[in-house]
Order: sequence, then structure tokens, then C-alpha cells
Amino acid sequence: MQASAPPARIFTRRAGRIPAQKSSPRQRRRGITHNVNREIGMAEAAKKGSSSRDAGKGQSSNQPATRESLIQGLQEDLAREYKAIIQYIIFSQKVDTARFMSIAQELQVHAHQELDHALKIARQLDYLGAYPVHEPAQVQVSDDNEEMLWIDLRAEDDTIRHYRTRIRQAESLGEYALAETLQEIIKQEQDHQIELAAALGVVPDDSQRQGQGPKQKKG
Ligand SMILES: [Fe+2]
Ligand SMILES: [Fe+2]
Repeated sequence: MQASAPPARIFTRRAGRIPAQKSSPRQRRRGITHNVNREIGMAEAAKKGSSSRDAGKGQSSNQPATRESLIQGLQEDLAREYKAIIQYIIFSQKVDTARFMSIAQELQVHAHQELDHALKIARQLDYLGAYPVHEPAQVQVSDDNEEMLWIDLRAEDDTIRHYRTRIRQAESLGEYALAETLQEIIKQEQDHQIELAAALGVVPDDSQRQGQGPKQKKG
């Protein structure tokens, strides 16, 4: 584990942008493994920051955007997309209460759309010279149908919040094509939010449903 890896450094495939560090011959032989460990560090940061508040460096909405913070934010977005794919695959098969059967089909559609989002984000990371992370943000599951849907709804709330920040960062850095791609993604995330909220009989706007639903477990 690379728990002590400096969080401010962004992994990039371009060798010239990797911070110069003395490495042993064994580390040099490891090549990509050394860099992948950096990704794991970022995925860990995404796991910790995925619950509610902006925690990762890529998430600070009131700091001026930098290319590095944009890349780190996109890595965290990608980890959240992986998590969404896994949760929707499981929940689409495990919803078994008559009241929620109509949403089960929708959850399968969501799983495909989250995969599409992950591919788009990975493509943008590649464009920016970064190697995409390979670990999901922390996956949450439940045996209770209603709790499953609340988990998904809150994950969508969180994802939308982070994409709003990312769009602002992309625009402020003049990355307009990226901003446009993120806008397409956020539209689908809002559709997911609306469908889940409708199934649960609550309003989609999370600012109007504070205190509703099962208590969130702190990870
Ligand atoms: Fe997504
Ligand atoms: Fe979504």
C-alpha cells in the first residue's frame, strides 16, 4: 500500500510530468506498477470522499482550477462511475418487491449508461495525458429494496454535485469539449436521480429532502 504517497501529485502517462523521485533499480523495473500505485492512492481518496462532502483535491469548488486538480477530479469521477456500474448491476437483479419492480428495468439501463460515462471520462483522461484509475469508489449494498434505492439516489446526488464542480473547472481552464461531454453526462445523471426519486416517492432535488430516507452509514 502507498498510504504515504503525496496526494498533490497527479499521475500522468507522460514521463516528463511525473515528479522526479529517486527510485531503486527494482522500482524502475516495475515501470507501470509504480504508477498504478499512484492511481490506487487516488482511488482511495475517491472512496473516502464519495459519501457526501467534497474531500478530494479535485473536488474543491472554491479553489482556482488547475489542470492537475481537474485530472484528479476526473479520476475520482471515474471511480464513482465504476461504483455506479457495480451497484446498478447488483440492484437491478436483486430488486424483488412488487412496489419497485418497474424500476428494476430502469436500473439495467442505468448500468449501461454508467459504463458509457466511464468510457467517456477515461477517454478524456487519456486526452489529458493521465492514466485512468482502475479501482471503484466504495461500493454500498443492501438486502432491503428501499434502502438499495436510497443508496443509488444519494450516489446520484453526490455524482451530480461533483460533475457541477468539474464543469466549472473545465470551463475555467478553457476545456470546452470536456465541459460539453460532462454536460451530456450530467443530464443522464439527473434522469437517474429523477427516476429513483419517483420510485421512492420523494422529490429529485436533494436540497428539498434533507432528513428523509434511512440514516447514512459513515464509511
Ligand atoms: Fe454516471
Ligand atoms: Fe447515474
